[in-house]
Amino acid sequence: MTSITLALAKGRTANSTIELLEQSGITFSAFHDKSRKLVFYSDDESIKLIFVKALDVPTYVEKGAADIGIVGKDNILEAEADVYEMLDLKQGKCQMVVAGKKGETIDLAKKLTIASKFPTIARNYFQKKGQSVDTIKLNGSVELAPLIGLSDVIVDIVETGNTLKENGLTILEEIEDISTRLIVNKASFTTKSDQIHQVMNTLKSALE
Ligand code: PRP
Repeated sequence: MTSITLALAKGRTANSTIELLEQSGITFSAFHDKSRKLVFYSDDESIKLIFVKALDVPTYVEKGAADIGIVGKDNILEAEADVYEMLDLKQGKCQMVVAGKKGETIDLAKKLTIASKFPTIARNYFQKKGQSVDTIKLNGSVELAPLIGLSDVIVDIVETGNTLKENGLTILEEIEDISTRLIVNKASFTTKSDQIHQVMNTLKSALE
């Protein structure tokens, strides 16, 4: 059977995803998230794992450079890639929210400035509500933006809520539940159907 290529997101959920794969019987003895190596093979060589930036995972999968990918729903939504989302792997659970200073009200009639690492998610969410927005793309420490007047609100991920709390911010609206998902290239879903279903089924049984 030919091998399939899996794009795995670097970052917080990489190790727990490898653990989940191992519970499913797919082991990567050589994998180490601190390694500078970017390609790893499963011990049975059925899966070639490429280790890439989270936001790039949907792109690798959409373009067919990887047959499947494991990445957070936040990055799937932000990349707007044309892929199949097949399984919720339930790792890295958090929420995508709109947050701002306590007591901040969102006036639909006024243009809203939003700072975010996820400008596409922010724009799409507010467009659906008919709210006119300007987005400012930041790469981190987003909570600072409303405090120094760079934006009215932020769209960001909340896990424990500590970062918001310590900066005097609060959740204003909830956008989406986030967790890691298995995504699949549309062509590979047909051409490598057997291998992909095998991986999906083993992951499903590990989740149960
Ligand atoms: C993420 C996110 C929030 C924080 C939320 O940032 O953007 O800032 O974690 O977590 P909490 O609710 O548990 O406090 P990250 O740690 O990735 O750092 P960054 O600001 O440099 O992007």
